[in-house]
Amino acid sequence: MIKGIILSGGTATRLFPLTATTSKQLLPIYDRQMIFYPLNTLVKAGIKDILIIVAPEHSGQFLNLLGSIFKNHGINIFFEVQKTPRGLADAFLVGENFIDNNSVAMVLGDNIFEDDLAEDIKDFKSGSMVFAKKVSDPERFGVVKFDENGKATEIKEKPKEFLSDWAITGLYVYDKKVVEIAKNLAPSDRGEIEITDINKKYLEAGELSVKKIEGEWLDAGTFDSLLEAGNVVKKKEIYKKFDPIINKAIEEFNAELKELAKKKLA
Ligand code: DAU
Repeated sequence: MIKGIILSGGTATRLFPLTATTSKQLLPIYDRQMIFYPLNTLVKAGIKDILIIVAPEHSGQFLNLLGSIFKNHGINIFFEVQKTPRGLADAFLVGENFIDNNSVAMVLGDNIFEDDLAEDIKDFKSGSMVFAKKVSDPERFGVVKFDENGKATEIKEKPKEFLSDWAITGLYVYDKKVVEIAKNLAPSDRGEIEITDINKKYLEAGELSVKKIEGEWLDAGTFDSLLEAGNVVKKKEIYKKFDPIINKAIEEFNAELKELAKKKLA
């Protein structure tokens, strides 16, 4: 079984003052909160148990939105609080009990994918799988270099010197070994435990599979990318290609909210 984690904490200082009142992942991307995009990535892949890791100050808001929205749809949502943003690899420490010796697909709460990656995730057996996208600003990301046969040979977090223009996106699938690997990581120069160090371990063991993606990949971490994400999903109608479970759940939630609003007015 593959379990799902959405890492949705952090302080998002680049989006102040928007994120002074709510979490980045609860900001709107056109007609729905950003978090529905990573949720869709996992639900489309048939993942039923999903842990959402949030910052303490936003836990109530996440609970209000997602606490019972899937109760009639066979998707089980769990929450954990990450007290401080210790790094992406912390997801596997905060989520250790939830993962419970299963494989896990972890997606960042601000990552929006146009491609349907469900079949790749469903086919995952062991080791690790990451998704790479060609970008023009690789120094902003973890990158992966390929040899002439297309085999991944090297991985580096935010390389200062050019290594490759293939960025590793914020969707990662690992077997159960990831928890032990995460426990043994030393913090990086920026004081975080890095997912790139996890990927390096799998690469060294010959257990890293890298899938190249073609479609749009957006991380909505700045004003410009937030605006762009909204415009792209509207233009390409990405919100219409959601798993029907999610669109149905949102419809029902909206109907319930309208009923409540009516009662308040009465
Ligand atoms: O977006 C993909 C990139 O994400 C990868 O290419 C990089 O290898 C990876 O390190 C990461 O890069 P960033 O440095 O841009 O990640 P950032 O610190 O912005 O965190 C990504 C999201 O995860 C952000 O929405 C906040 C959340 N987060 C982050 C940390 C460090 C948490 O919830 N908890 C955390 O401890």
